[in-house]
Amino acid sequence: MPKNISKEKSINRTKTTAELIVCAIFLGTAALIGKNCIDRSRIVPATQNEGKKVDEITIPDPSEAIDPNKIIFTSTPINTRAKFGGNLILVNNDYQYYATGEENLVSIMSSNDEKGRTSFTAVDYDYTILSNVYEPLAQMVDDWYELYHNDTLIVYGSYRTNDFQRQLYEQFTANTSGDGEAPIVAPPGFSEHETGLAFDFSETVGLDYQGTDDFLWLNENCDKYGFIIRYAEDKEDITEYRYEPWHFRYVGKPHAQYMKDNNICLEEYIELLRNAHPYSGEHLEVTDESGAAYEIYFVPSDDGSEYTNIPVPTGVKYDISGNNVDGFIITVHKDEKVSIGAENFSVTTSPSSTETTETADPESTSDSTETTAVY
Ligand code: DAL
Ligand code: ZN
Repeated sequence: MPKNISKEKSINRTKTTAELIVCAIFLGTAALIGKNCIDRSRIVPATQNEGKKVDEITIPDPSEAIDPNKIIFTSTPINTRAKFGGNLILVNNDYQYYATGEENLVSIMSSNDEKGRTSFTAVDYDYTILSNVYEPLAQMVDDWYELYHNDTLIVYGSYRTNDFQRQLYEQFTANTSGDGEAPIVAPPGFSEHETGLAFDFSETVGLDYQGTDDFLWLNENCDKYGFIIRYAEDKEDITEYRYEPWHFRYVGKPHAQYMKDNNICLEEYIELLRNAHPYSGEHLEVTDESGAAYEIYFVPSDDGSEYTNIPVPTGVKYDISGNNVDGFIITVHKDEKVSIGAENFSVTTSPSSTETTETADPESTSDSTETTAVY
């Protein structure tokens, strides 16, 4: 081996050893600095540190601080058939109502008697409506009565059995077939009156109701009580019914208000929620006229399963309604806090079968010529 090459190797070996020593010193120092950095992040006042290992305590990053107003969602299973019930079900010529036979109906006149209410009446004691609809209806009429002192308002149509709807439909079609006008009576099984969510107003005088004069206030303010004029004048092509100023349908306050403010009918609203406000997307934010805030979203039903898992909020009240088509609408009452685990929510009983109920006909005592006034 030539001498100069051997010397070069020796120099290189010395250089490599020196480099290794420098590197080791550098890494050791870096490790110490790094350790000090980590330790600093875990410094907590001694009083907070009692009984805890230092390593378990971390100071939260302020940028990740929890927003107390942020709603946390959890999942709850709901019977998939519950999609056929609730305040927001769409019942029209395409979507039948599947009666449960368990509708919670109350007599309008008996309820008025119990509360000493004289602002309005119904045809007789057999006129019933869903219990959760009675109070908003009565409140609306009381407020109207305060303003107008008009005692001629009568509920002339309310909950109907499937059988009675059939009688009305056959009578109506026999009298009007071929006149070319949009109908005002739904076929049996397809009427909102079978749900107990709808009612018709009339005047005791003339048995008519056009929502004009004193009654205009009711038609213009019903959304504040959760009602919509279901068959609007400019929506006949969508609803497939003639304008019915007398037919009121309960949907709940934020929904009624949103539909009125945006001039959309129930068909359009159900479609909007499905397409634009799914749970995974941007929820619809609505504030009602009293200032209460709501958040609304759609969850599709899991039609292949007995149960659908629904994301619901924790710590605030919420309602779940089916849409009678393909899913559920969740309404979060953002201002109504409840303790976690005790969330207050309502969901309509799911229909156990597709059979319709056969009970007494509430309107069958009316004279058939009089029932042509409103449907
Ligand atoms: N008048 C409405 C369409 C009904 O009969 O249900
Ligand atoms: Zn009606």
